Amino acid sequence: MALAGLAALFILISTHCYTTIFAVILKTEDKNPWANEFESIELSCIMESIATKNPRIEWKKIKDGEPSYVYFGNEISGDLKNRAVLKEPATLEITNATRSDTAQYRCEVTATDDQRSFDEILINLAVRVRPVLPRCSVPQSVPVGKSAELSCAEGEGFPRPQYQWFRNEEEVPEDPKSNPKFLNSSYTLNPSTGTLGDFRHKSSFVI
Ligand SMILES: *[C@@H]1O[C@H](CO)[C@@H](O)[C@H](O)[C@H]1NC(C)=O
Ligand SMILES: *[C@@H]1O[C@H](CO)[C@@H](O)[C@H](O)[C@H]1NC(C)=O
Repeated sequence: MALAGLAALFILISTHCYTTIFAVILKTEDKNPWANEFESIELSCIMESIATKNPRIEWKKIKDGEPSYVYFGNEISGDLKNRAVLKEPATLEITNATRSDTAQYRCEVTATDDQRSFDEILINLAVRVRPVLPRCSVPQSVPVGKSAELSCAEGEGFPRPQYQWFRNEEEVPEDPKSNPKFLNSSYTLNPSTGTLGDFRHKSSFVI
């Protein structure tokens, strides 16, 4: 009985020792942050646990599978130079985000006095870009009953914009049957590409 008690105590001590192994453990407040272009954004890298006093902190940017240094040797480097700062303890703040900052970022911390001496955390940053005025191709005139294609597109907005068409200030519905004003028209409308295709109308009208 006493022996069993001793064994239980021993297990208790050894599990207790196991849980107090020093380890660096990172976490983030947001793994998939969004930023607006020309605004600031924080990529948070928080040390949930660490014993080492002066850990080595590095940030890498991974774009198209290619890693490059963003923070190395206590300095911001690469294309974020003069546009980012490191905030305690390891958060990267981009002060003026640009569309080229859309990428994966990796916070890496090496803590030599911890038994588990390395941890890293991956963050996906997406930078929203305002759409610009679309370029349009609209035929001057179309004979009654013949089909026409109308298209408008722009190439900058991110995420990719959705397009809406209006005729005489009335939104062209995706399904012409859903609005009596479009009953005499037939067409296919693609909100993702901005194309109003195979447009036919029984009588003339002005776009
Ligand atoms: C951010 O960068 C853009 C383009 O480089 C620049 O025009 C703008 O003035 C910058 N904004 C700030 C707040 O620094
Ligand atoms: C549809 O066409 C008919 C006959 O051409 C016309 O009387 C009617 O006003 C048209 N409706 C619309 C909504 O344009």
